Amino acid sequence: MTRPPLDPGSAPSSTDPDPSAPSRGALSGRRVLLAVTGSIAAYKAVLLLRLLKKAGAHVEVLLTDTAQRFVGAATFSGLGAPVHDDMFSAPGELHVTLGQRADVLLVAPATADVLARLRQGRADDLLTATALCLRGRLLLAPAMHPTMWHAPAVRENVALLQARGAELIGPVVGEVASGDSGMGRMAEPEEIVAALTHSLRSDASLGGRHVVVTAGPTREPIDPVRFLTNTSSGKMGFAIAAQAARRGARVTLIAGPVHQPTPAGVERLDVGTTEEMRSTLWSVLGDDLQGADALVMCAAVADYRPRTAAEHKLKRGDELRLDLVPNPDLLAEIGAARGGTTPVLVGFALETGDDDALSASARGKLQRKKVDLVVANAAAESLGRDDNRVLLVTDTETTPLPTLPKEAIAHQLLDWVGARLDALTAPPADVTPGPVDSSTEGTP
Ligand SMILES: Cc1cc2nc3c(=O)[nH]c(=O)nc-3n(C[C@H](O)[C@H](O)[C@H](O)COP(=O)(O)O)c2cc1C
Repeated sequence: MTRPPLDPGSAPSSTDPDPSAPSRGALSGRRVLLAVTGSIAAYKAVLLLRLLKKAGAHVEVLLTDTAQRFVGAATFSGLGAPVHDDMFSAPGELHVTLGQRADVLLVAPATADVLARLRQGRADDLLTATALCLRGRLLLAPAMHPTMWHAPAVRENVALLQARGAELIGPVVGEVASGDSGMGRMAEPEEIVAALTHSLRSDASLGGRHVVVTAGPTREPIDPVRFLTNTSSGKMGFAIAAQAARRGARVTLIAGPVHQPTPAGVERLDVGTTEEMRSTLWSVLGDDLQGADALVMCAAVADYRPRTAAEHKLKRGDELRLDLVPNPDLLAEIGAARGGTTPVLVGFALETGDDDALSASARGKLQRKKVDLVVANAAAESLGRDDNRVLLVTDTETTPLPTLPKEAIAHQLLDWVGARLDALTAPPADVTPGPVDSSTEGTP
């Protein structure tokens, strides 16, 4: 059935809790289709609706059958939103109409099941059929038990949906309905609205720029079947590449061996060894480095490689000594070769010490390697994970960020890069962008 909104007179009174909303009008004129699926977090969609409306969005609500077992249509229509829950309730093709008129389809909460259905491209309910007709953006705010979130099937579904252009908001680490804790709790409604606002606002902020990103580990052969590498998953670099492409940049992603799908709109160049990454990097940048506007060196390149790789598989023996030689330091090489201020250069620093050691090492790296911004992260809170806690270190300040999904860190980093590029190309030259925003506003 499609329910019209109830009389505005029945909208919340001033005695209702007044959640801190994003600025009024931030979503003015935007059409948001809020799809609610069958998770306990469905009750938070009610607050989400209020916040979206306060921000000026025109919101329609779509409920799956299961969502209605958790929260009723009357609650949403009582808040002034038209509610749709049945593909066959209106004349014509409701799913086509909804898909074509929404600027954003926000699925919040998004269950594991709907992620699987969206990945498959099913169309046997109003939500999935609408998603196939969608002209606007698809934003997903997953909510599920951490064990579900980490299940390989869910990981694959999420990765593929992201590669197709869906944007993920959360989930975050926290307590879930069962009382367990971990990654799987839905992002808070305020964060979701901020991320949605950010997503719509920043579409073209890197338009006309070429952003080059390195990601993943490198792999140094010992013999034809063995190699030295590290545990980098490539997630951070792939998130940066995906977000840069969504902001309108031409993006070249130079990736070591990782199991990550290529983000939509990104040109991917796969490499194996550090030497291969180096030569690919230089051929993309050119001798004068002017082939890119910004270079984000996120790859965890191997510091050492075997002096020689055996031609044939080494046989088991008593003892084997590897003779290792240092690999070129790609970041330092680029920093030293850069005469002026472009490309804007961002490096990553990974440490196993505490925050003070992390900050000191990042600042040293910044100065030694002539980098504009160093993202410092602790190995235990970074490698292979979906979230990370980082310090952003520039020549003037160190900004600690809270633990955030890697997409959110990518937003912060690209905000900084965009501001830096804008400052460099602005007529009067104050090339220092403002401080990095350490709040989570505008990020999932
Ligand atoms: C009490 C309860 C809570 C649930 N919470 C979640 C949840 O948070 N996340 C999830 O993916 N599935 C959850 N489920 C399972 C979904 O409701 C189920 O997979 C359903 O088919 C999803 O349908 P939908 O995606 O069409 O709304 C829950 C089920 C129950 C009974």
